[in-house]
Amino acid sequence: MEMKTARRLESVTEYYFSQKLREIDALNKQGKNIINLGIGSPDLPPHPDVIKVLHEESSRPTTHAYQGYKGSPVLRKAISDWYQKWYEVALDADTEILPLIGSKEGIMHICMTYLNEGDAALIPNPGYPTYKTAVTLAGGKTIDYILKEENDWLPDFSVLEKICLANKNCKLLFANYPNMPTGKLPSLTLFEDLVNFAKKHNLLIIHDNPYSFILNDKPASILNVEGAKDVAVELNSLSKSHNMAGWRIGMACGAKQRIDDVLRFKSNMDSGIFLPVQLAAAKALTLGDDWHKELNSIYTQRRIKALQLLNCLHCDFSKTQAGMFVWAKVSNNYKSGYELSDEILYKSGVFITPGGIFGSAGNNYVRLSLCTKKEIIEQAIERIKK
Ligand SMILES: Cc1ncc(COP(=O)(O)O)c(C=O)c1O
Repeated sequence: MEMKTARRLESVTEYYFSQKLREIDALNKQGKNIINLGIGSPDLPPHPDVIKVLHEESSRPTTHAYQGYKGSPVLRKAISDWYQKWYEVALDADTEILPLIGSKEGIMHICMTYLNEGDAALIPNPGYPTYKTAVTLAGGKTIDYILKEENDWLPDFSVLEKICLANKNCKLLFANYPNMPTGKLPSLTLFEDLVNFAKKHNLLIIHDNPYSFILNDKPASILNVEGAKDVAVELNSLSKSHNMAGWRIGMACGAKQRIDDVLRFKSNMDSGIFLPVQLAAAKALTLGDDWHKELNSIYTQRRIKALQLLNCLHCDFSKTQAGMFVWAKVSNNYKSGYELSDEILYKSGVFITPGGIFGSAGNNYVRLSLCTKKEIIEQAIERIKK
């Protein structure tokens, strides 16, 4: 039977990594044993106490029913306490927090909630590819704002201003600091500047904040800026900070009206999150400094090796990046990060992500993931040296 897919899928191609993983799979089947330094899925487990709560709660007969659309009050309270403790942001646990099945779904839900056909969303280039696909699937248009190394990977507000004046249909602005893929931390004034800009141009900011605990000892939230709740929603996640990527647990935080709006859409999409997962997530959010210090000491050791690898490839990089990746500029001997990535995949059996998949402004860069044991990164160095 021939069945044409809906028009909304036409401008959305298969996710780069799902294609690339097939290629890597085919090479592995030929016995190549590729070292994959591409994908940012934490390889370490959550804290044992978190697993214990999941075990205990899922062993009880009363935890298996559908859950409320707004999430368990226990988890919402834990998120509120966590925001207060680490970000110094007060959130009402009943009205200003919406637990999510990972922050990725929040990106889609927000686009479906606010975009009409023809509305535009400003997205960073380079940036997380899901911003573009979510806006497009929701029927909106994306307008890239370019992040440049010479501007320290921060938005250029004079350019943003021109874009907004020329495009009266701009409604959303996606921002993400610590930034993926560039590793840039938020500057002191960035969040204030974003909030002021959004107020001036009547935009809703979606601040995507999943990396604030990784290789960064000062987690920061845009909601800490006075008046931010009027114009910003923050997405956050336990995927990286608590090694729970496969558990699919995240959150949207913002003004009651925003949470109610998004819930109107979301409550028609899913029927809540498995209660033991929510209770285990609540436990994870109570973990203290020791947990983050231990995790970061592992990432620090891996980063030392990753930087050695990038030196072997004659790449240029900043040493002050946060998050679980290293972003680096390829040498002039290569036309692009794609060329370097393909060369080391086929010559050395090592995969690193070409920066161009995050947008044209990433073309001359590569991104290396720290989600692999230090010993494996050492092996990758040996292969590349050969
Ligand atoms: C910038 C950014 N935002 C959001 C996500 C999605 O995270 P989650 O696992 O919470 O859906 C990722 C995951 O790679 C990411 O890199």
